[in-house]
Amino acid sequence: RKRVTPPSLAVRAAAGEKLVMVTAYDYPAARAAERAGVDIVLVGDSGAQVQLGYDSTVPVTVDEMLVLAAAVRRGTTTALVVVDLPFGSYEVSDEQAVATAVRFVKEAGADAVKLEGGGRVPASRIRAITSAGVPVMGHVGLTPQTAVALGGFSAQGRTVEAARRVRDDALAVQEAGAFSLVLEAIPSDLAAAIHPMLHVPAIGIGAGPDVDGQVLVLHDLLGLTEGRAAKFVKRYASVLDGMTAGIAAYADEVRTGAYPGPEHGYAMPDGVLDALDA
Ligand code: KIV
Ligand code: NA
Repeated sequence: RKRVTPPSLAVRAAAGEKLVMVTAYDYPAARAAERAGVDIVLVGDSGAQVQLGYDSTVPVTVDEMLVLAAAVRRGTTTALVVVDLPFGSYEVSDEQAVATAVRFVKEAGADAVKLEGGGRVPASRIRAITSAGVPVMGHVGLTPQTAVALGGFSAQGRTVEAARRVRDDALAVQEAGAFSLVLEAIPSDLAAAIHPMLHVPAIGIGAGPDVDGQVLVLHDLLGLTEGRAAKFVKRYASVLDGMTAGIAAYADEVRTGAYPGPEHGYAMPDGVLDALDA
């Protein structure tokens, strides 16, 4: 399989092919995504929560994201690697945004970066980063970094004014030069209405089927998270249960002495022990 590129994604989306995107935050997950043949691996700042245990995406730093992103890069050979610009790393100025994006490319091998928002400021950021030669993916609708300002983690665009805002944000992101965008947590009918206005691939998460592809947080789809998941999450595996069962079986065998068995031990060549005290 050839390396996925932003232009190749646009060609395939235009041909009606559904694009597959999933998050990953470490080497084994990147390997699994690569082996499963996904198109885009997102080192999402959702990793702040599901991988690093913070209670929101806000605290994660550029240095922490660089470690996650570099591991994912090492695990991928053909998937496009997109890295989220974390909160606080692109809001100050276009210059700050370019500097952060360039770090992800140079230090972690990112193919592209993603940033949240669609208004005047993100548009200038997107233009600045793409002008520096780094492809940008937009992210509109529910934007977790500013969920407090949006009034929480609820679906966006459910009033005329709010729907207009999501649409205008999506168009602003496209106009600014993003090669693709994520539509998160908006009514399926709104995504279907916006989709024909876009000539760049729209990847949905909680945006219904009438978009160019889907993204889910890896830990959600694998069943690696505890507690209630968002409405759009579908679970395809029970990995946390599998991990717990594996560790519990190991713990049980250590406690009973069943592990290690003779087959896990190293043999000593004849005579060495006899000569030990000689
Ligand atoms: O951080 C993330 O995982 C994301 C996706 C949900 C789009 O931004
Ligand atoms: Na994100």
